[in-house]
Amino acid sequence: MQTIYYDLRDTKGQQKRIEDNISAAAKILREGGLVAIPTETVYGLGANGLDPKAVNRIFEAKGRPQDNPLILHVTGPQWLPRYCADIPPIAYVLARKFWPGPLTMILKRKSIVPDETTAGLDTVGVRCPNHPVTLSIIREAGIPIAAPSANTSGRPSCTTAQDVLEDMNGKIDGVVDGGPCTVGVESTILDLTCEPPRLLRPGGLPMEDLERLIGHIDVDKAITGTLAEGEKPKAPGMKYRHYAPKAPVTVVTGAPAASAAEIARRVSAASGVICFDEYAHLFKGQEVHTLGPSADKQTQAQRVFDALRSFDESGVTEIYAQCPDNRGLGLAIGNRLKKAAGFHVVQADSQRIILGLTGCTGAGKTSALRAIQALGGEIIDCDAVYHEMLEQSEDLRNAINEKFPGVFSEDGSLNHRKLGEEVFAKKDRLAQLNDIVFRFLVPEVERRVGRLPDGLYAIDAINLLESGLNRLCDRTVAVTAPVELRVRRIMARDNITEQYARLRISAQKSDEYYRSKCDCELTNAADTPEEFRKEAELYFRRLIEGVEEEKRHGAASRQNG
Ligand code: TXA
Ligand code: MG
Repeated sequence: MQTIYYDLRDTKGQQKRIEDNISAAAKILREGGLVAIPTETVYGLGANGLDPKAVNRIFEAKGRPQDNPLILHVTGPQWLPRYCADIPPIAYVLARKFWPGPLTMILKRKSIVPDETTAGLDTVGVRCPNHPVTLSIIREAGIPIAAPSANTSGRPSCTTAQDVLEDMNGKIDGVVDGGPCTVGVESTILDLTCEPPRLLRPGGLPMEDLERLIGHIDVDKAITGTLAEGEKPKAPGMKYRHYAPKAPVTVVTGAPAASAAEIARRVSAASGVICFDEYAHLFKGQEVHTLGPSADKQTQAQRVFDALRSFDESGVTEIYAQCPDNRGLGLAIGNRLKKAAGFHVVQADSQRIILGLTGCTGAGKTSALRAIQALGGEIIDCDAVYHEMLEQSEDLRNAINEKFPGVFSEDGSLNHRKLGEEVFAKKDRLAQLNDIVFRFLVPEVERRVGRLPDGLYAIDAINLLESGLNRLCDRTVAVTAPVELRVRRIMARDNITEQYARLRISAQKSDEYYRSKCDCELTNAADTPEEFRKEAELYFRRLIEGVEEEKRHGAASRQNG
């Protein structure tokens, strides 16, 4: 095994060596060997496409199913008549426009192309790759190079020579290192043996570009994963679970903000996340691989396989992936992600808006919640959920009883006063109780939120941020107020002395804490609750408009998160 050629980018003064290396690769190929070659899409595992023995070695090295045909790589349209029959004029129109480039055309084959290459089909895939080194190698070898992607069968494709070495070291005769692939997803496969032409695999050449040139094309069902049980895709390779990391993948579609929020709702510490750059900050506790900005599909295509590959070195037990829309390169990127997920796809709900409210006592959270109700919103009262669970969940009761023996009365009801005394002023005991409650409460609230119909909701939870319930929210809102106002409000509300009111405030977290941890802030400096409610209504109306806008377009990221 030899690494034959290094990155094109530092070729100054090395022209001789490049030529030597091209010759070396061409020689191995002519003599029936296997050489991994760079292309603009992904690395290919090349062999002489006219030599059955050499082609068989490809299947062995990759562990590829025998019924999956290979693409022949050529240097231009002038090679088509050598290997293809009944070539329609449109093939030349396409080749002239898009070759060299990420387009594979399926045409009737001539008998010179062996069954081993086409897996017995009477058609053959042909493409002219856009990489100067590989074009030189094919030209010098003088033979069409059969080359599937250079990964072990079932694994994500290779976009660097390093990836190839990872999968193929010791199994093949050489790797030609041509730098990282500039496109990053495989070629678009278009079947020209039918009318209208049919897209068999979305790829590096957007379908819109094809249609602009040749008009309507059909899309094979295998691309969207809607094949019925037992139905065969036209490109045999499309039927395999593919590009798959070891951990199971769930793809979440929808506007980027909505899919990010949906993933944030679902992740645990052992989850891995593939997301757009803008949303990485939502996943501080998770292993994250970013795809690039949500609006930059070219970068996403370059990174998608690397992201999928990267998780294999880590211990994540599940992977969630954001997915671009289907336009342009998005169709190919989404297809690779969905295939990696075995088409396990979740549609992020974009019509449900969830706000999370928190803040210090006396700041006006209750009035703010009323304002949300006035706008037609429904309140999810987490304290009420907790009390229901105390009645219904034996597991929760047992967990509490284990750490706090004796807090349940004979009749099975929780003695709240006793539990309160146990945790009051004992920080570690309170933390233990919170651990238990959060562990049960969060999944329950998550389950309930997941079943809610479209509409506006507000989560009312004392420990919104500490419990992790904030992850369910489109926006978290800190309700804050000047300390002097809060002192007066608490005195009036709870009928207590000023000194005691100040003591209670000082025992709590500060406005600054909530301000720094929430997405946005609603300050209550109004003289009366009515006045504040009016202000709050206006505030939430604007906030909701912003969230709706974001869900529609998905481009904007969250403000302060
Ligand atoms: O970008 C690419 O196309 C890369 C680089 C190396 O050129 N190659 C590549 O090859 O992706 P591979 O083998 O990983 O994928 C080829 C796909 C498979 O799904 C295969 O079933 C399909 O093309 N295919 C090949 N010949 C075909 C034919 N005659 N009819 C229908 N599908 C065919
Ligand atoms: Mg492949």
